[in-house]
Amino acid sequence: MEIVNKRQWKINKILYYLFKERFKKKINFDFPNNLNRWDLINQVINQKKFNSYLEIGCDDDYAFSQIKLKDKIGVDPSSGGNFRGTSDEFFQKNNRKFDCIFIDGLHEYDQVNKDIINSLENLNENGIILLHDCLPKSLNQQAVPRYQWVWNGDVWKCIVKFRCREDLDIVTCKIDHGISIIRKIKNKDKLNLIINDFKKLKFENFYYNHKEYMRIMEYNEVLEYIKS
Ligand SMILES: C[S@@+](CC[C@H](N)C(=O)[O-])C[C@H]1O[C@@H](n2cnc3c(N)ncnc32)[C@H](O)[C@@H]1O
Repeated sequence: MEIVNKRQWKINKILYYLFKERFKKKINFDFPNNLNRWDLINQVINQKKFNSYLEIGCDDDYAFSQIKLKDKIGVDPSSGGNFRGTSDEFFQKNNRKFDCIFIDGLHEYDQVNKDIINSLENLNENGIILLHDCLPKSLNQQAVPRYQWVWNGDVWKCIVKFRCREDLDIVTCKIDHGISIIRKIKNKDKLNLIINDFKKLKFENFYYNHKEYMRIMEYNEVLEYIKS
């Protein structure tokens, strides 16, 4: 990590505490050690007999390299995958659809919101979108701008927003920092929230409401859920 990052992160932390939020309680999600994001993605692909895969944000290809499909595209501006550029650049050029899309790029509300909207437009009928890092344990892990290494960002706020839509059914699998699953089917458990700007939600809101907000399921429950 570069020194410039450390300094910037210190400033970000102070500013966050001063102007955004201070909240010390943490959530113990107790994620199982033996289940990774690619286990769930591969289960989804096998169970649904999917043929095509798009990953947004690949980094060292930990997940991308585990996906055994021939038809796979990995988008990242700096490393991994097979498309060099941002997700916005990719979607601007792209003119095809995918069965399975894994969103794991820039974990900031506005970008995740755009990535979800673009993914919904580029998803095959009966396709599935998965998003990483949806269950942050602490305020520090979800603060934007970022100020520490272990970081999920505020992806969770987008999930709350899209959980209010009639036409999307969303659950969150309790593995590997939380993986939400979005399907274009009627919402079976719609959130009825009156919130003008979901970006302004606080970690305190998440701490007290995460079960309802995120519709959290264990891994085995999710495998049953996607059969339906
Ligand atoms: C958390 S890492 C991805 C990890 C990977 N999916 C895995 O499962 O191991 C996030 C990646 O997103 C990339 N990224 C940042 N901004 C992006 C953007 N606008 N579009 C696509 N990728 C982005 C970063 O370069 C970084 O490699």
